[in-house]
Amino acid sequence: MSGADLADEARALVADGVARIGAAPTSDDVRAVESELLGKRSRLSELKAGMRDLDPDDRKVLGAALHETRATLEAAVADRVAELAAVERRAQLAAERLDLTESLGRASAGHVHLVTQTWERLEDVFVGMGFTVATGPEVETDWFNFEALNLPPSHPARSLWDTLYLDTSELEGVGPQQLLLRTHTSPVQVRTMLRAVRDGSGPPIYVVCPGRTYRQDTADATHLPVFHQIEMLVIDRGITMGDLSGTIETFTKAYFGQELTSRLRPSYFPFTEPSAEVDISQPDGSWLEVGGCGMVHPNVLRACGLDPEEWSGFAFGFGIERLAKIRHHLTDIRDLITNDMRFLEQF
Ligand code: PHE
Repeated sequence: MSGADLADEARALVADGVARIGAAPTSDDVRAVESELLGKRSRLSELKAGMRDLDPDDRKVLGAALHETRATLEAAVADRVAELAAVERRAQLAAERLDLTESLGRASAGHVHLVTQTWERLEDVFVGMGFTVATGPEVETDWFNFEALNLPPSHPARSLWDTLYLDTSELEGVGPQQLLLRTHTSPVQVRTMLRAVRDGSGPPIYVVCPGRTYRQDTADATHLPVFHQIEMLVIDRGITMGDLSGTIETFTKAYFGQELTSRLRPSYFPFTEPSAEVDISQPDGSWLEVGGCGMVHPNVLRACGLDPEEWSGFAFGFGIERLAKIRHHLTDIRDLITNDMRFLEQF
C-alpha cells in the first residue's frame, strides 16, 4: 500500500474515534477508549510501526496524517474528560448541598412563656377589678426593701428573706449591704405611696405591682432563686380585714374559677398587722400556700408620709410561679426555667 492510502486509513480513524470518545459515559470509559485508539496495540500504533518499511516520501505523508489523527483524538479525549469532570462536580455539589432554608420551613412561631402568660392574665384580672399597674426597680436600696417596711437594720425578721446583696466596696459613699436584689415586690408599695403623696394623686391607692424578685435560695420543686411576685396594695379610708379577705376570694374565683376557694392563716410579717398566709384549695382537697397578706402596718404608712389615723389599707404578695403551678397542675416549678420544649409547648 502507498503512503497516501495508509494516510487515508489513518485519517478515517478520526470520525469513529471522536464519536466513541464523545459517547463514553464516564471518565474511566474515556480512558479505556483512549488506550484502544492511541495505545501500543492500537491501529494507530501499528500504522506508525509500519512507517519504517516505507520510502521517505510516503513516510512523510503517512507521518503527517498520523500526527494529525493522534492530535485530534487526544484533543477529543481532553475535552470529554473535562466535560465529564464538570458534570461529576455538579452532581457531587448537588448531592452535598445543604439546604439551609429547610429549618425556616419547619420552624413554628414561638409563643409567650407560661410565666409571662400568667403575669399578663393576673394583670388582666386585677385591672378588671379596678386596679392600676405599677412597677419598680429590681435593684433596690435597703431602705425601700426593708427599712421603710418596718424592718430596721437589726430586725430579726430580716432573716425571713435570704437576701442577695450587691458588692458596693468600690462605690463611693455606699456602705456595705446597702444595695440588694429586691427580695419581694413590697418596695414597690413604698414607692407608690411616696409618689402618690408627693404628686397629690392619692390616696386612695388601688394598685398591683408585678415583677421579678430574688432570693439566695436553692431551686426545688416549689422554690426558685429568681422568681416573680404580684403585690397588691389598697390604701383608703376605713379599709378592714374583711375587705382584704373578700378581695382575695374575688381574685381566686376570677383567676381559678368558681370551684376553687382561698383561706387566710395567721402569720407574721413586719409590714402588716395582723398578717396572714394565703392558701388556695386544691382539687384534691389539700391547700397550697401562694403568698402573704395583711393590714398595712402604721409604721409603714408613717414612713410613706401617710397618717395612720386617717388612712388604712391592706396588701398581699403572691408568687406568680406558684399561681401558675396551681392553675396548670405543674409538679415542679423548675420546669419553668429549664427550656425543655416538650414542657413549654404545652402552654
Ligand atoms: N412581701 C412578702 C413576701 O414576699 C409577702 C407579703 C406581701 C406579705 C404583702 C404581706 C403583705 O414574703
